[in-house]
Amino acid sequence: MATVYTDSDADLTVLKDRTVGIVGYGNQGRAQALNLRDSGIDVLVGCPPDAYRGRAMADGLAVCDVRDAAERADIVLMLIPDEVQPDVYVAEVAPGLEAGNTLGFASGYNIHYGLIEPDADVDVVMVAPRMIGDAVRSLFLAGTGFPCLVAVGQNPTGQAMAKALALARAIGGTRQGAFESSFEEETLIDLFAEQFLWAGIGGLCRTYFDSLVDAGCDPEIVASEMYLSGEMVEVAQAMIDVGFFKQLDLHSHTSQYGQLSRVVAALGGDLKERAARILDGLRSGAFAEEWTAEQKAGCPALQALKREAFGHPLNRVEERAAGRTAK
Ligand code: NAI
Repeated sequence: MATVYTDSDADLTVLKDRTVGIVGYGNQGRAQALNLRDSGIDVLVGCPPDAYRGRAMADGLAVCDVRDAAERADIVLMLIPDEVQPDVYVAEVAPGLEAGNTLGFASGYNIHYGLIEPDADVDVVMVAPRMIGDAVRSLFLAGTGFPCLVAVGQNPTGQAMAKALALARAIGGTRQGAFESSFEEETLIDLFAEQFLWAGIGGLCRTYFDSLVDAGCDPEIVASEMYLSGEMVEVAQAMIDVGFFKQLDLHSHTSQYGQLSRVVAALGGDLKERAARILDGLRSGAFAEEWTAEQKAGCPALQALKREAFGHPLNRVEERAAGRTAK
């Protein structure tokens, strides 16, 4: 059973007299900076001179270059895209870190795969909201907070977990409970969801659409049945409210029988082996190597995959549906 920490396990005074430097002011950076400030923490935003920096200034936060923020802060949170973090770390963050400082992440990726290797005298922590940035802010303001994972990567001061929990509490991450996790576990659950669950759902949806359109069904009616009607959202909400299987009672008996009896017909064969192969690629680091090489080459495969996806007939159906709805 995972250890779950709540507000009462986290002592905000650990952050008293410490400055938290937020590197990046995008999805997570803005939400976490504003939540920390509203929790009474001294916040400094480190950002290149771009539109994000303008937004931080408009929000009334102290803003400076990334290197200055790393030098002036005691705790530095890396809240820029994972793929730019290694270069920014080496060039602008590492030179500003001192022994006893803390380096924080909202994702396990770069530490788990060794793409960032902090000095041994720096605490390394992860406070990873299981929530998109906008909702990290809105759920903090609503008072409910959001689920969160916390982990310690390095602990030379002996205070790393206390700092991680204080950070989690200050952004609203211990209100519902923060799970103690690890950089590896966060990386696996996050990337395996993307590469198996979401890849699978995306592939199933495309095959559902193509099969019914080939069978003579109207593309717009098929797209409406699949997701444009919003029924999918209602079902997902019912899974949260009632239960993953218990929500079956909201469907007809024909639907219940069909859903439960055709799992193997739809997804049988070597699905488990395929899942294991994807997971192996994450555990061995093969995917991380492939993705790093892809980035270095300028992302040609990603661009080709996106061109193919945006060429799918579903895009034209959505355009027609939007035009019709707008009338
Ligand atoms: P983002 O794409 O919103 O980051 C934008 C910020 O990055 C801007 O301030 C921009 O100035 C800065 N930036 C971009 N390139 C830069 C560079 N080369 N040098 C310096 N600054 C640069 O990032 P997002 O989505 O907030 O992700 C940040 C971290 O949070 C990542 O580790 C991600 O995995 C994690 N995370 C993100 C979630 C989300 O809701 N998007 C959810 C949970 C974790």
